[in-house]
Parts: sequence; C-alpha cells; structure tokens
Amino acid sequence: MSADNGAQEKGVPVTEQYWDDSRLTVLDHPLVQHKISILRSKDTTTKQFRELVRELALFEGYEATRDFPLEPVEVETPLETCTAHRVAGKKVAIVPILRAGLGMVDGLLELVPSARVGHLGMYRDPVTHEPHEYFAKLPPDVESRTCLIVDPMLATGGSAIAAIDYLRKAGVADIRLLVLVACPEGVSAVLEHDPEVRVYACQMDRELNDRAYILPGLGDAGDRIFGTK
Ligand code: PRP
Ligand code: URA
Repeated sequence: MSADNGAQEKGVPVTEQYWDDSRLTVLDHPLVQHKISILRSKDTTTKQFRELVRELALFEGYEATRDFPLEPVEVETPLETCTAHRVAGKKVAIVPILRAGLGMVDGLLELVPSARVGHLGMYRDPVTHEPHEYFAKLPPDVESRTCLIVDPMLATGGSAIAAIDYLRKAGVADIRLLVLVACPEGVSAVLEHDPEVRVYACQMDRELNDRAYILPGLGDAGDRIFGTK
C-alpha cells in the first residue's frame, strides 16, 4: 500500500501493480472492475450476485489457465487441412471452499468442462477468525491434477491456507488460488505460508476491519450468494 493512506484511498483501489510478487495476478480488465463494483453494492440482489460471481469466476479462470501447455492437432476445415492447437491433456480439479466457493464452480466448469470437483468445507470462527474444517471430499487422483481452489474472499488467509495445506498433504503439486476480492493481509499470509502457490484476484482491497472483514469489500459472500442474511 502507498504511504499516503488518506481519505481519497477510502475509495476502491484500481488495479495498480503495487504488489511485487510474480505469484500474484490481479486481473486488470474494465469489465472485471465493472462487475466487481456491482457485486459490492448492498442493493445488488441475490440473483444478480450469484450471476456475477459465476461470470467473474469465468474471467478469472481464463487468466489462471493461461499457461496450460498446447499440442498440435491436424484439423480439416471445410477448405483445407491445417495444424491447430489443443490443450495437451491437462487434468484439472476445481476445489471450492464451502460454502461461498460453490458460487464460482459453474463459471469454471464452463471453461474446463472435463474438470473434477473436490469440496473442502471450512467455516471461520466469528470470534477467533480461525478456520474450522467440517468436510472434505477430493477426486481420487487429485495429486496428478492442477487444483484451482476457489473462494470469493481472501481475508486473513486462514481458510485458504488450511485448504492449501490439505491439498499439499494429499500430494498436490500445482495449486492456484482464485479469489474475487483479496486484501494485503490475506495475500501476504498465503504467499508467505506456501512458497509455490499462485494467487489470482479480481481486486485487491484496502484492509481488514476489527472483525476481519475486508474493506470496502462486499460483506459476507456466502450469505449474499445463498440469501441467508
Ligand atoms: C468466508 C469466505 C472464506 C473465508 C475468508 O467464509 O468465503 O472462506 O470467510 O476468510 P479468511 O481469509 O479470514 O479465512 P465463511 O467462513 O464465512 O463461510 P461461508 O462460506 O459458509 O459463508
Ligand atoms: N468472509 C467474507 O465473506 N467476507 C469478508 O469480508 C471476510 C470474510
């Protein structure tokens, strides 16, 4: 963060690259910022919120799969035969952190329809903010897959770190964490905890409040996706 953290920075930061870490990608696209702005509004309905989370996950998945290897394939077009390219057998698992991560799964499955889906259930203790694991079910060959952990919010980083640790223990080498809204505290915690993980965020927000909610943020993502508040 810049040192002159004055009133004008109460606004939403635009995606200037103030974070010097090649393992962090903050999406820099006007449509992403536009959609995130709608997502933030307290007046956005549950239906709209859900649709936006799905769409943003799709944009983010596009960025997080950019380095997938290609192999040549011969294709007969109506006019001639050419050498085109297809993804070279990359196996993917999408791993939502329950509940809110579920909202991002469909968007990613549109991009990678052959992906398997594993689930990790975590809830954050409202007082200590520590994550508690209550469910886990992963594909049997998860260790051979690129795992995209998805969760709209990266706050203290506790839930993401617990999910990363769970996948590392299961033998997963390639882990990418996809969040919609991050904050410096959460990003630092995750990058410092795991030397290999890559983090993708649609937007980097300012800070956490004293209840470990992201500011300006969008509130409780799970409640807004499922209409439970
Ligand atoms: C939210 C969010 C993340 C976590 C982020 O989930 O979806 O999983 O908090 O906070 P952290 O970075 O400080 O761990 P929550 O525990 O509220 O559960 P929910 O998805 O069921 O609403
Ligand atoms: N979880 C949320 O859903 N929102 C926050 O701002 C922090 C944690």
